[in-house]
Amino acid sequence: MLTERERITDIQTAAATIQRTLLMIPGPTAIAAEILAAGARPVLSHSDPLMRSFVAESLGHLRSLFDAPASQPIITAGSGTLAMDIGLSNLIEPGDRVLILASGVFGGRFRTIAEKNGAEVRIESAPLGEAIDPDQVRRAIESFRPKVVTITHVDTSTGVRLDVEPLARLASERDTLVVVDGVCSIGGEYFHGDAWGVDVALTASQKAIGAPPGLAIVTVGERARAARNNRRTEFPGYFTDFNNWLPVMESYEGGAPGYFGTPAVTLLAMLHAALAELSAEPMPARVARHAWIAGAFKAGIAALGLSNVAAADANANTLTVVRNPDGVGDELVDAVRVEGVTIARAIHPELRGRSFRVGHMGICGPSEILTTLAAIERALHRLGEPVELGAGLAAAQTVLARGYLSA
Ligand SMILES: Cc1ncc(COP(=O)(O)O)c(C=O)c1O
Repeated sequence: MLTERERITDIQTAAATIQRTLLMIPGPTAIAAEILAAGARPVLSHSDPLMRSFVAESLGHLRSLFDAPASQPIITAGSGTLAMDIGLSNLIEPGDRVLILASGVFGGRFRTIAEKNGAEVRIESAPLGEAIDPDQVRRAIESFRPKVVTITHVDTSTGVRLDVEPLARLASERDTLVVVDGVCSIGGEYFHGDAWGVDVALTASQKAIGAPPGLAIVTVGERARAARNNRRTEFPGYFTDFNNWLPVMESYEGGAPGYFGTPAVTLLAMLHAALAELSAEPMPARVARHAWIAGAFKAGIAALGLSNVAAADANANTLTVVRNPDGVGDELVDAVRVEGVTIARAIHPELRGRSFRVGHMGICGPSEILTTLAAIERALHRLGEPVELGAGLAAAQTVLARGYLSA
């Protein structure tokens, strides 16, 4: 039995020794060496034929990824928040109504964007961890009659996945525009943008797509483009204006690249490599792989006696938000870091200091899941929690051993 002093010295030694950490936060995610290598090249002109083909091919891959063949994707330097701003602000004018389906803190971001653009906002939500009931949404659309409904596909603060299809249909059948935040879902969850009646969908490069942070991605459908073009009032945005980006994207696909703002060419080369790799994996297999990895992690957590914030019918493939044991705070995240794995603290106000978040998307596989569960087990043990070392690993192994392609 170590004395308390020896335990602390031991932990400090481990912390100093471990130079590398396994990145398991819900974005940015770890990326493959081939994607990193794609950026290790001389900077290209944004109108270079090679860059033209990188962008044109990436736009094609994005249409497939969002399953939105009739939409025009936009790629620009920025993060997911910029994509949210571009995606929503073009559609709304002062006095327009926006219904926000909020399953965590990211709905609040849509609220801020809508209000800054003068919209009247109504929020519909469910109890923490639960999906929003479609009947509740139907009633809200019928009474509030919004111009736009926003949906957060997977909210990274709760791990809740909403079923976009019925919610989007409810809106589009009532001539309401649909904007979907897919920042924490696209590439790890099913998505059929055009078939579901989604007018704008958005993501960023750093999550399930598996590229570095720095690119905002927005798909713009016909109805969204018309809403921008038929505005009664001048659009106050400049960098965020659809009409500054859509022609440039079309010009890359048309063969003679145009210019609005200097593209992030190195990131675009890396995104191109990531999307090429992604499109080589059929989407049903990719989603099944994410579900398998998620299932293994969630089984491991449950076997450790920890609970998942998201309800079973609203459980994302891309991340898990886990409640800490009673009386344990963010020292658990720090202790896992000492064991060589970086996980994230909670960002939801009701969960801060009481839970942690683990991302399992992109290239995350069995090795990463097992390493993470093992680090969580050791961290709990070091913190004096009654944990059976190996219990989480055994439960995860059982799921992993089943495989996923036959599931
Ligand atoms: C669901 C969701 N939407 C939007 C964002 C904002 O993206 P970014 O941090 O890239 O601006 C995030 C970030 O984690 C997110 O998870």
